[in-house]
Amino acid sequence: MDRDIRTVDDVLRLLDGLFAPGADRWTADAADWWDGFYADRSKPVPFFVARPDESLASYVERGLIAPGRALDLGCGPGRNALHLASLGFEVDAVDLSPAAITWAEDRAREAGADIRFHCADAFTATGLNGPYDLIHDSGCFHHLPPHRRVSYLALLDRALAPGGHLALTCFAAGETGMGSELPDADFYRESGLQGGLAYTPQSLRWIFSDLTEIELRRMHDEPPESPYFGEPFLWTALFRRDTGTR
Ligand SMILES: C[S@@+](CC[C@H](N)C(=O)[O-])C[C@H]1O[C@@H](n2cnc3c(N)ncnc32)[C@H](O)[C@@H]1O
Repeated sequence: MDRDIRTVDDVLRLLDGLFAPGADRWTADAADWWDGFYADRSKPVPFFVARPDESLASYVERGLIAPGRALDLGCGPGRNALHLASLGFEVDAVDLSPAAITWAEDRAREAGADIRFHCADAFTATGLNGPYDLIHDSGCFHHLPPHRRVSYLALLDRALAPGGHLALTCFAAGETGMGSELPDADFYRESGLQGGLAYTPQSLRWIFSDLTEIELRRMHDEPPESPYFGEPFLWTALFRRDTGTR
């Protein structure tokens, strides 16, 4: 007889198991899946381009964020981490896929960028406690099972500096959006993440209601010749942690 639940972490692990029936841990299953996804670097995947998000570039250009300590959460092949490093940020970048980290390290070496890469689950990794002036996430949040928002918010709580910013890019619900609009509970009944979760502006505002919204909009559609990445099926949002909240 298994009596496995005593703490919140036990509940989170049990729920993880619903998304990875064959694996020890949901994150191990996800790491394998992402490794397969990154195996062919020449695939025509929009975010395989070595260009930063237009939103990130625009936050810096408009003076909404300034160089400091940054964490690129779910960095993939590192395009945004590299941009941040080129602007003078001191960058930690984490991804649970070894293939993503190897690719990002290759790009950093070619660019001569000094970035601390961590191949780990961002939410259980040690050494990612900041405090960070910027936590940047382009495309990781919408791939998390709903209950892992608890871990996400806990990471913000322990690692985002007072006055620091969360820059988030995720699937947009609604017309011309992307991702699944199933209610949270249905992901547990269907036992899968359906390619990622769509969010409404209201749901993002509610989830991140401890932070102050600076901007929330659809990402601009960047043409192929643009130096930036931009896809209009994504929300891009900037939130700030108030200075008195730590
Ligand atoms: C859609 S990709 C985006 C990659 C990169 N941010 C970009 O925009 O080029 C999402 C990334 O999140 C990573 N990821 C998902 N869950 C994670 C977790 N718990 N900890 C760290 N990385 C995670 C995946 O391995 C994947 O590389």
